[in-house]
Amino acid sequence: MIVILDFGSQFTRLIARRFRELRAFSLILPGHASLEEILKLEPKAIVLSGGPSSVYDQDAPKPSDGVLELPIPILGICYGMNFLAQHLGGKVEAATVREYGKSVLSSYNGALFAGVDGEFIAWMSHGDGVKSLPNGCTVTCSTSDTAIAGFEVLESKRYGIQFHPEVVHTPKGAKILENFLSIVGVARDWTAEHIVEDLITDIRAKVGSDKVMLAVSGGVDSSTLALLLQKAIGDQLTAVFVDHGLLRLGEREEVRTALANADLRVVDASEPFLNALEGISDPEQKRKIVGREFIRVFEREARELEALGYRWLAQGTLYPDVIESAGGIGAANIKSHHNVGGLPEDLEFELLEPFRLLFKDEVREIAQVLGLPDAIRLRHPFPGPGLSIRILGDVTREKIDILQRVDSIFIAGLKEWKLYDSVWQALAVLTPVRSVGVMGDGRTYSYLVALRAVTSIDGMTADWARLPFEFLEFISTKIVNAVPEVNRVVYDITSKPPATIEWE
Ligand code: XMP
Repeated sequence: MIVILDFGSQFTRLIARRFRELRAFSLILPGHASLEEILKLEPKAIVLSGGPSSVYDQDAPKPSDGVLELPIPILGICYGMNFLAQHLGGKVEAATVREYGKSVLSSYNGALFAGVDGEFIAWMSHGDGVKSLPNGCTVTCSTSDTAIAGFEVLESKRYGIQFHPEVVHTPKGAKILENFLSIVGVARDWTAEHIVEDLITDIRAKVGSDKVMLAVSGGVDSSTLALLLQKAIGDQLTAVFVDHGLLRLGEREEVRTALANADLRVVDASEPFLNALEGISDPEQKRKIVGREFIRVFEREARELEALGYRWLAQGTLYPDVIESAGGIGAANIKSHHNVGGLPEDLEFELLEPFRLLFKDEVREIAQVLGLPDAIRLRHPFPGPGLSIRILGDVTREKIDILQRVDSIFIAGLKEWKLYDSVWQALAVLTPVRSVGVMGDGRTYSYLVALRAVTSIDGMTADWARLPFEFLEFISTKIVNAVPEVNRVVYDITSKPPATIEWE
């Protein structure tokens, strides 16, 4: 594998992504990771990321002693290049002309540029520059403002580039990274099939003949993990699916079908959830109640399974979560379970997180290899509190039933019109508003529903999806015709911010 040392660049994660797209396995460690920690991973190469500091600052972050002396190829990007240059005896100063954004290399050559020709657009983001290099270093590229925009030391395989090859704004950047992989000679076999084989071997080695429990939500991560564990350890796995009565139409059956071969405990907890929600219309209170009830049910199940000798609690934690929670890669064997909605400390499970080094799209690829139905694999996100936060005001069984039918028509319509995959999330909201309508010569006084579809990258910001008017007309007619409790449909055209995606 390749170890990427992170010095705080906003693009560090992209470097790992690009390598994985090139089918090479890489991991991000904090820039100051110890030599011992790095050696444990037996890396074939090291990449020093960019970062906001200046290498000549007193407190500039730096790799641990000995890391830059390792006899393996090292690639420094931006800050990483400056650090490498300084370490080798070069001089780094504030640049006379800073470069932010698009630059064009005026010349380039050297091992990283093998097979590259034509104009090379390089995306830059630097205020410092390498002013001089020691003997033995060769300049590999320049721009009109930066004489030393890259260098190499062929013998020791040290490479520096001032620009960011990992961003899409450097169109030929992937070729640079691919050339680095060729120089390193790292295996390019990081395919979904290979990952599945590796994960299965690891899980079997770790778990042995122990029993494992897994909470499934019907989302892609936990469903994929259920299939993987099923394949790895068969009937040592018990999956627990809590139906809180706030699911979408047919969702329980979908999960049951997808996990038909697993030992699946479907816990029907709709009574306690809906009883607890009765008469509650404040959104925050609803969320808290659902959270609390979920923990109660899961705790009960967990205790029962613990008593039955279950030792492991499996979770679908992903790599971005691991990096973001400062736990880092070193913390592999955490014995805690607070990630599962606040379970009590005295439950003695060990945590099994086979996806903790994977990205979401890798999990989706694995899901495909394992045969998870596309209906779940490519499904839009669905909030934990379920339909309770899409029913404005108090939640009743009747309203859940209405919303389930509306939502199902909307989602099926999006799929039928081949629009489903072009939006990030689509949902229907049942409002407490009733309005007057006319149907078949008669007056109606029925519910108003709102449809919402958004485009987004990560849900943090979102724009309303420009669904075709013809589709909106079709779906509005269909909903009003099929759901007699509804006589008016509106489409939400607010972005996030200022609105949120969900209405509550
Ligand atoms: P908002 O409404 O905050 O939602 O713009 C952003 C994304 O998060 C989902 N969401 C949740 N997911 N538990 C979840 O698992 C929750 O309590 C929750 N609330 C919102 C929402 O569906 C959207 O995808």
